[in-house]
Amino acid sequence: MARSSAQTPSPSRQSIDRTACEQHAARFFRASLSAGLICNTSPMPQTLENSPIADSVIWNDWYVVARSADLQPGKLIPVRLLDRPLVLWKTEAGEICAWDDRCPHRSVKLSQGKIVDETVVCSYHGLAYAPDGRCVSVPAHPDYKPPKQACVRVYAVQEKYGLVFVCLGEPQQEIPDFAEWDDPDYGRFMTGPHPCKANGYRAIENFLDVAHFSFVHEGILGSREKPEVEDYQVTIDPSGVWLHDVRYWQPDPDGTGQGAYVHYDYWALRPLVAALRKKMPNGHLLNILYFVTPTSEEEFVGWMALTFNFRDAMDEAAAQTFQETVFAQDSENLESHFPQKLPLYSPELEFHLPCDRGSLAYRKWLKQLGVTYGTI
Ligand code: FES
Ligand SMILES: [Fe+2]
Repeated sequence: MARSSAQTPSPSRQSIDRTACEQHAARFFRASLSAGLICNTSPMPQTLENSPIADSVIWNDWYVVARSADLQPGKLIPVRLLDRPLVLWKTEAGEICAWDDRCPHRSVKLSQGKIVDETVVCSYHGLAYAPDGRCVSVPAHPDYKPPKQACVRVYAVQEKYGLVFVCLGEPQQEIPDFAEWDDPDYGRFMTGPHPCKANGYRAIENFLDVAHFSFVHEGILGSREKPEVEDYQVTIDPSGVWLHDVRYWQPDPDGTGQGAYVHYDYWALRPLVAALRKKMPNGHLLNILYFVTPTSEEEFVGWMALTFNFRDAMDEAAAQTFQETVFAQDSENLESHFPQKLPLYSPELEFHLPCDRGSLAYRKWLKQLGVTYGTI
């Protein structure tokens, strides 16, 4: 690779080529910038102004895009977030990069390229991009010094819970905390990715909804013999939407073979993150933090972090299989919503039952936050 020669061109070629190239580049970048095709002047996170999404609350949040273990040096991973194709990669030094999956030269996917010497080399003309997104080599013109605007758009990235989180905008909050994740008294595991061709807010509503248990998860989370949902309290505060002490009958909640009532507390803490705490009759506690990644307005990928205080009684492999089963049962209904987008206030489209007060509060809260992406 001609990386070093590109950075130190001969004086004579440099003065001729750079003048011509920079004039051309300046014209090109002004045109591209006004068309919203390239980043502004540096590989900084894209701003809301030139994003395709109007609501900052969605654009500026963190979303799970992969498991940390998926990222191995030498591997380019294409993912999608909020309708944007991204490419993830990890340097030998351990830095994780989340970029637009698009070469700024002729717009082909960088995920089709290769990682060489801590750079991503595009498959089309071999331009190489360093971890900060800047082009550092142009094989067709070894003496050409790429202008600073020749950069791939890069995004904020963090790891937590063994997952990789990306924010496309300006992060306004930390990644949600999960108090029991590092508590030695709790066992823990992660499930996902759970891809689904459905709207992400519909997935959160489904997570907050016990009334479907007796029909969708009959025999494991509910029974048609006892489908009643008792009244429960809902509150909205600055931390989100809370559903307090939702009592529901389940056929075998603590492994004794006996049906009994369980108690759920739910919390929607971000538009696309929700948590639950389930109390079993024998005192066992199960906590779930559910991350929903909107790949588009009508598709999502789910990720679940689970902790439980009955580590000895929990067969983790069986629990993983159980979660997969539950998710597959939910998917059929989730994918059949029409419209997929969540109606925030459309009484003509859907009506509500007393047991829907949790989802009604969630819709109201989304509206208060100004969420528009994926809603109608
Ligand atoms: S399109 Fe990537 S190098 Fe030309
Ligand atoms: Fe379900």
